[in-house]
Amino acid sequence: MAAAGPTEVVVVGSCMTDLVSLTTRLPKAGETIHGHKFFIGFGGKGANQCIQAARLGAKTLMICKVGKDSFGNDYIENFKRNGISTEFVGQTEDAATGTASIIVNSEVKTLFNPAPAHAELDPQFYTHADIFCCNESEAEILTGIPVGSPEDAGKVGLVLLERGCKLVIVTLGAEGCVMISVDEPIPKHVPAGKVRAVDTTGAGDSFVGALAFFMACYPNLSMEEVIRRSNFIASLSVQASGTQSSYPYRKDLPQDLF
Ligand SMILES: Nc1ncnc2c1ncn2[C@@H]1O[C@H](COP(=O)(O)OP(=O)(O)OP(=O)(O)O)[C@@H](O)[C@H]1O
Ligand SMILES: *[C@@H]1O[C@H](CO)[C@@H](O)[C@H](O)[C@H]1NC(C)=O
Ligand SMILES: *[C@@H]1O[C@H](CO)[C@@H](O)[C@H](O)[C@H]1NC(C)=O
Repeated sequence: MAAAGPTEVVVVGSCMTDLVSLTTRLPKAGETIHGHKFFIGFGGKGANQCIQAARLGAKTLMICKVGKDSFGNDYIENFKRNGISTEFVGQTEDAATGTASIIVNSEVKTLFNPAPAHAELDPQFYTHADIFCCNESEAEILTGIPVGSPEDAGKVGLVLLERGCKLVIVTLGAEGCVMISVDEPIPKHVPAGKVRAVDTTGAGDSFVGALAFFMACYPNLSMEEVIRRSNFIASLSVQASGTQSSYPYRKDLPQDLF
C-alpha cells in the first residue's frame, strides 16, 4: 500500500506501545484495583501522525528507535503494514521500546447524538450512552411521537428511558430543550433565551459541542446548569449566519460561563 515516488512526509518522533487498562476509577497511590479490560495498542504522537499521513496517501518515512524486544518488532511490522518506510527505524539492545500505561476510567462520559436518525437504531445505543441528545425530528423518527411542544418532548423522554437511556435531552429550537433522567424521571423544560434568530443552521451541533465541553471541563455542574449554558451558546450561534462561522469563541463570551 506504499505510495510511489519520493518520500513526502518524514516524521521524527515518538513511537510508543500503549498498555491500556479500563477501570471504574483511577487507583490512589499504592492502591491495587480491579480493571475489567486490557489491550495493547500502537501509539506515540510522532508515529500516530505518520500513520495518519500514510493512510491519507502520503509516502512516509519514520525516524525513531525502538528496543530489540517484542514490542519493537511488532511496531516495525505495524509501520510496514501501513506502508511506512522503516529504513531509519533503529533497534537497540540498550533500551526497551517505549511504553505508555494508560488507564481509562469509566468517568469518561459518552454523549450520543442520533443524527441522522433511523427508526431501527441499534438498541445498544440507548443503553450504552450516558447522555442521549436528539432534536424534534429525530425524536419523532425514533419514537413515532410527533414533537411540537415541551410536553411532547417529555413523552419522548419517557419512551427513551424505557428503552434504557440514562439521561435524555430533546432540543426544541427556540424553546430550548427538555431533559429527563432515570434519577429524576419527570421531564424538565430548560428554555432558551429570547433572541432574534438570523440563521439556525448548525444550532444543534453548537448545542451538542457546548454540552460536551461543559460536561468534560466542568464535571461538577448540574446537568440542568450544563444545559442552560449550552442553550445560551447555541442561541448565540443562531444570531449570526453560517454554521461554524457563527460559533462563538471563548474570548468573546461572558466569562461567568467558565
Ligand atoms: N430561535 C432560537 N432561539 C434561541 N435558541 C435557539 C433557537 N434555535 C435554536 N436554539 C438553540 O439551539 C439548540 C438546538 O436547536 P435545534 O433544536 O433547532 O437543533 P437542530 O434542529 O439539531 O438544529 P439544526 O439542525 O438547525 O442544526 C436549542 O436547544 C437552543 O438552545
Ligand atoms: C434535526 O436534525 C436533523 C439531522 O439529523 C436535521 O435534518 C433536521 O432538520 C433537524 N430537525 C429540526 C426540527 O431542526
Ligand atoms: C467536584 O466535586 C468533587 C466531589 O464532590 C470534589 O472533590 C471536587 O473538589 C470538586 N471540584 C471542583 C473543581 O469543584
